[in-house]
Amino acid sequence: MTDLKERIAAQLTAVRDRSLAYTAAEDDLLVRQHSPLMSPLVWDLAHVGNYEELWVLRAAAGITPLRPEIDDIYDAFKTPRRDRPSLPFLRPAEARDYIGGVRGRVLDVLDAVDLADPSPLRRDGFVFGLVIQHEHQHDETMLATLQLAGRPGVVRDGDLPPGLSEGPEEVYVPAGEFLMGTDSLPWAYDNERPAHRVDLPAYWIDRLPVGNAAYAAFIEDGGYHDARWWTPEGWRWRQENGVFGPLFWTREGGTWWRTRFGRTEPVPMDEPVQHVCWYEADAYARWAGKRLPTEAEWEKACGWDAAAGRARPYPWGEQDPTPELANLGHRAARPAPLGAYPGGASPYGAEQMVGDVWEWTATWFDGYPGFRAFPYREYSEVFFGREYRVLRGGSWAADPAAVRTTFRNWDYPIRRQIFTGFRCARTAAPEER
Ligand SMILES: [Fe+2]
Repeated sequence: MTDLKERIAAQLTAVRDRSLAYTAAEDDLLVRQHSPLMSPLVWDLAHVGNYEELWVLRAAAGITPLRPEIDDIYDAFKTPRRDRPSLPFLRPAEARDYIGGVRGRVLDVLDAVDLADPSPLRRDGFVFGLVIQHEHQHDETMLATLQLAGRPGVVRDGDLPPGLSEGPEEVYVPAGEFLMGTDSLPWAYDNERPAHRVDLPAYWIDRLPVGNAAYAAFIEDGGYHDARWWTPEGWRWRQENGVFGPLFWTREGGTWWRTRFGRTEPVPMDEPVQHVCWYEADAYARWAGKRLPTEAEWEKACGWDAAAGRARPYPWGEQDPTPELANLGHRAARPAPLGAYPGGASPYGAEQMVGDVWEWTATWFDGYPGFRAFPYREYSEVFFGREYRVLRGGSWAADPAAVRTTFRNWDYPIRRQIFTGFRCARTAAPEER
């Protein structure tokens, strides 16, 4: 096998180990719906196998469908999450059997395939990258389900580096063009393409994500009770839902507590805030005298190397993520303390842009100029418009295989169960330029 084939095989094994670990629980936990926002865990498990069958076995290799009768059950567009418990989905033992059967054939296809084939699905192993990233994204979704279910069982919670780095509150990004998106990363999704020049005025962006201490100060200053800081939609959302702080936070005895995978603990004030929706992030930013960065501002601050005149795949450079550079891949079940990764800083000095928490941006999810849907419209294009806000950078739960400077995630502005925080930005004043 070639190096690339070996890497693909290793990544397929690694992601499947995670999926099976997150679903190594009693059947009742797997078939139940823990929140109308989420699918039953066993639906996610068989869905990743069905997706692998559709794309690797049928689309790329032309193999006859194994179980065409279950396609509709696992088509995310046919049944919204809230209605999935009523589907006749495969029970856990059958689901494991099915995805194992698919995977065996996928490895045979990998063995036989020519990765230099000009077919866009096969070239550079794109279709394998597609299913590996897809499964990692569902694994992160499964962790969000387990958090909503209050389940510790399968959740690792290892050590993370201490928060150390000293530095300014904000870093400066001078005016100028940068190259946004990519033409060259072989496993990048359609929505990251094509690379295009974007000219931005000078701005400041927070060196670190907003922390729990700063966020608690916003709450204590009456931030949730002052319409001034909120957009009209955000204020309506806050009032209708009686929200007073991040999801999973409670106040008792003058202390903020949070529930994390079934355990209640004091909120660690030195971690980035997570489980806030776009409306909350936007209101905080206004209270702080700033705003959310646009998606372009976020990407330039993360990866643009002005001296070299090119974009880096990660803030620190070309090197794959390691535990010393970023908090990814669920080594622990939480964001690392602020300042834990000075070695992962971007050329402009922004830290923790990759890993820890997804970061809300001010931008609606849309296609770049010259966008072309590939391999199917339902991956990205049907979500374009004014419904979803872009999230960047990946969380502690995201896998390195599905995180990079150009990677784009999106969600409704009300979503809070995802592992999401934010950082702020502001346009540089004329005297600061
Ligand atoms: Fe999916």
